[in-house]
Amino acid sequence: MLHLIDHPMIKSKLTLMRKVETGTKDFRQNLDEIAGLMAYEVTKDLPTRNVDIVTPMGACVGQELDCRVVLVPVLRAGLGMVNGIQNLIPTCKIGHIGLYRNEETLEPVEYYAKFPKHMDESIVLILDPMLATGGSAKAAIDIVKKAGAKTIKLVNLVGVQEGIDVIEKAHPDVDIYLAAKDEKLNEIGYIVPGLGDAGDRIFGTK
Ligand code: PRP
Ligand code: URA
Repeated sequence: MLHLIDHPMIKSKLTLMRKVETGTKDFRQNLDEIAGLMAYEVTKDLPTRNVDIVTPMGACVGQELDCRVVLVPVLRAGLGMVNGIQNLIPTCKIGHIGLYRNEETLEPVEYYAKFPKHMDESIVLILDPMLATGGSAKAAIDIVKKAGAKTIKLVNLVGVQEGIDVIEKAHPDVDIYLAAKDEKLNEIGYIVPGLGDAGDRIFGTK
């Protein structure tokens, strides 16, 4: 299921990220802030359990999270979303998947994967700003499922219909969260209008 998060603060920060003149510092900061805002929506259905507590005024029943959460950024660009979400869920564990797109075939190439324990009992949030052809996200979901994950949410910033279709077909059980659905892919597989190469803009590598 696709969740398109419609929020004025996300839209204005994403507009800043899209601008060609926005430098690495502001790109990174706005991605961090948007990830934090998206986390609010993404975590809306996390289970809680009742807990007896005492406030300065007396006893009451409060709630605490009743699940494990694992963040899985897709290297490199997904790393830019970790901090904003981790701030909201400080008890989360973090796994990593290393993938890059072969620039000619646009097929994802895996180079790293490492996960915490209890993936099968955790709510796994895969983080990557870009959902273009969907090849990388599909591969990332395949990898976390192989590691045991059963409850998976895919958290992207910008996506296109083509990528959404790939995920919905291959992994209909995975919820997709987007801050924006863009027009199309260009002839070299980049999202238009998009925001360019997310990894390069986060890390200043171009
Ligand atoms: C980008 C992006 C996604 C992928 C999306 O990573 O961060 O992982 O492309 O494209 P797709 O949907 O067509 O697979 P990239 O391969 O540029 O690697 P990088 O983050 O290391 O730069
Ligand atoms: N990867 C990116 O970083 N940007 C795109 O537009 C597509 C894939």
